Parts: sequence; structure tokens; C-alpha cells
Amino acid sequence: MDRFRIRGGKPLRGEVRVARAKNAVLPLLAAALLSEDTCVIEDVPFLDDVVTMLKLLESIGVSVEMKGRTIKISAAGRLNPEAPYDIVRKMRASYYVLGPLLARFGDCRVSLPGGCAIGPRPVDLHLKGITALGARVKIEKGYIHARARSLRGNTMMLEGQKGPSVGATINTMMAAVLARGETVIEGAACEPEVVDVAQFLSKMGADITGAGTPTITIRGVKELRGARHKPIPDRIEAGTFAAAAAITRGRVEIIGCEPRHLTAVITKLQESGVRVEAGVDRLLVEARGRPQAVKISTAPYPGFPTDLQAQFTALLSIAQGTSTVTENIFESRFLHCLELNRMGALIDITGNMAVIHGVERLEGAQVMASDLRASAALVLAGLAARGQTEILRIYHLDRGYERLENKLKPLGADIRRVSS
Ligand code: EPU
Repeated sequence: MDRFRIRGGKPLRGEVRVARAKNAVLPLLAAALLSEDTCVIEDVPFLDDVVTMLKLLESIGVSVEMKGRTIKISAAGRLNPEAPYDIVRKMRASYYVLGPLLARFGDCRVSLPGGCAIGPRPVDLHLKGITALGARVKIEKGYIHARARSLRGNTMMLEGQKGPSVGATINTMMAAVLARGETVIEGAACEPEVVDVAQFLSKMGADITGAGTPTITIRGVKELRGARHKPIPDRIEAGTFAAAAAITRGRVEIIGCEPRHLTAVITKLQESGVRVEAGVDRLLVEARGRPQAVKISTAPYPGFPTDLQAQFTALLSIAQGTSTVTENIFESRFLHCLELNRMGALIDITGNMAVIHGVERLEGAQVMASDLRASAALVLAGLAARGQTEILRIYHLDRGYERLENKLKPLGADIRRVSS
């Protein structure tokens, strides 16, 4: 298992380019199941989660060809419409094959994912979506077994108690594109990744309006053709670099990003006294001293993203004053706080709120990554801390950041991957 060794205290300076969004790439790859023609996804980041999704597609019988960062997917011929537990347990986003397999084959089995380090991860809304389209769903021996002779369009409310669901919205949209008649998804998630998948499906011949708003309308078509698509830039990777610049009191230009997807994040950085200048596809982030304490509350898009909560908690651990971070999407997503406290942070957790008493500086320590974004938070803390930080279990990080150390080193970070 690899680990990172970081010698902290060096301000990051320079330019860094963000990758395409993991959380768009994963459903885009699954959407290719909807056509017999070849689909091409370009500029795909080398991530463990992408490898897992490709393995899943291959186990279904899809032909996958990868040349550099371009992936060609051809889902022709006889396929085995099943997502086995062995793959789903590694990556929850495997559930993205449910909608496409059901729409295309009328019968599929997808393992239930179970929980994960950030808390319970129910799938009731995914099932509500496909059931509303006429699927019969049974839970058998840990698997979702969904069947439908033909899917029929319907109007449904997909919002749950915690708000809209990105996964359920995309899954239901992918199932509805081949259904008979019109589907209206009310309470749809508005995340940019939903819009990106809708754009790809439209290139394939789907008829979708309203993606990016709470009401998405889909008029079913008979079949979809192949299409080529470049996913949107990764707003979470961009936000992670912004927090890295701020926590190290550096000056970083983040290029190839979409600042308009980061409005809530930019606002919080500016509120904390960090200088941010946004261009069309770049962000300049500069911090001269400690940030000021702020209040953050995670929310569905366009609110502050839960996927940047851990990184901003790390940043606020060295703020002047007391900050609060309320996690409204995944209420127990706070394991990173216990590790940050081992580095000298003063964070109290009460229910779904972290109260962060800012300290002058963090101290390097050995810490353990528990999930993808928690790992990123520990890297940021290590970059800012005095002395050496060693982060164990960074395989979590490799799921969603492509060789993060190779992007940080040119910015002046002293970070090393140690394989054991
Ligand atoms: N929820 C339900 N029922 C469902 C589905 C979701 O109650 O059937 C609840 C969840 O428990 C949560 C809320 O609804 O409280 C929102 O969850 P959502 O379904 O939107 O999350 P997701 O689609 O499973 C994606 C990202 C996550 C990101 C969330 C929220 C992918 C592959 N994953 O998950 O990304 O945190 O949206 O924005 O797109 C990450 O990249 O580190 C990550 C965890």
C-alpha cells in the first residue's frame, strides 16, 4: 500500500491544470451501454474509479479500447446485464449501469452497494425512479433485480429527505431516454455533472430538456446512436487546488477549470480573505496570511459541495477565529477531523456540525486516509504543517485524483509517494 511523505510549510506557486470530472466520466461511460454503436469519451483522467468502471463494462461484455486518454466503448452483441458484488463493493458508482442496462435489455441484476466511510448510501431514489418507469424491482440475495418488458414515461418526484440525488437523477434519466412517451423528473439534481450527461445523451439522439434545473423532461426515442464527448472539468479537483493555495499561503493559477461551477466555493474563499480572480477557464488564488474564520454549510448544487467539505475543514483549521462547518448531505462525513486533530487542529464534532477553533499552525504526524476527499484534506494539512506528515492508505486518493503528487511537485510541494 502506498503512502505519502510530505514536508510541509512551503507556499505553493505556479500553474496547475485540472483534469476532467470523475463524477461526470463514470456515468458517461455507463451511458455508452445505451447504444449498439461505438461511443468515444475523450481526455479521460487515469483514475482507479475509471479503471473499475471499465472492468465492470468488460465483465458485462462491452468492448473497451483505450488509446491514451481516449476511450472507445462498443456495447454491441450479446451482453451479460449484471454488475457483480465484487466490483460494486469497490465503487458505488457502479450503480450507474442500472438505468442503461434496464432500458436496453429489460432485465438486469446490480449488486446493492452497502455503506461506506462517509455514512449510509441508500439507493431508494434510484429504485423509485425506475419503478415509476414501470420496472418491477426485487431485492434478491444482495442484488437489485429489475425487469420491464418496456419502460413507459411518467412524472415523478425524485427529491429525498436530504434533497435531490445526483445518482438517482442520472440513472433515471438514462433509463427514460429509451422509454415510451414523456418522462418528467421533478426534484432533479442540478449538478453540472447531470447537465454533462444530458448533453452526451442528446448527442446520442436523446430528447432531453431542463437538465441543470429541478425539472427535467425526457421524450423517449426508439434507439440511440454512438457519440463523442469531452467531459466537463473537475470542479472538485479545482476547489482542492484552490484550498491548497490558500492553506500554504501561496499563489496558484488553476487552468482548464470552469469557475462558474465554483461560485459558492469562490465566495467562501473570498469571505475568508483569500484573493480569488476568476477568468473564463482559470482561477487565480492567492493568500498572504491565515484565513479568517467562516461558516460553511454543504448543500446540493449550486450550494457549497460536500466533496470539498473536508478540504475546507483542513483550511479552516488554521484560520483566525472559530469556524463552523455543517454537513447536510452525508452527515457523518467527518473522519478526517479526528486525523486533523492528531496534527494539532482543534475540531469538535456535534451531530452534523464541526466547530473548528483555528490554530496558528498544524504539526506533521502520521495519519490515515479514510475516504477520497478525507485523503485530499490530509494532503492539504500536510502541505501546511510544520515538519513531516505521513499519510497512510492513499489508495483512497488515487480513486479520484490522478497522481496528485505529480501536480503538486511543480508548484513547489515537497511530497513523495512511498511504495511498500
Ligand atoms: N440519497 C438517498 N436515497 C438515494 C440516493 C441518495 O436518500 O437513493 C441521499 C444520500 O444519502 C445523500 C443525498 O441523497 O444524503 C445525496 O446523495 P446523491 O445521490 O446525490 O450522491 P451520489 O450520487 O451517490 C454523488 C457523487 C459523490 C457526491 C454526491 C453529492 C458520484 C460518483 N458520486 O454521489 O461524490 O458526494 O453525489 O454531491 O458522482 C466523491 O466524489 O468523493 C463523492 C462521494
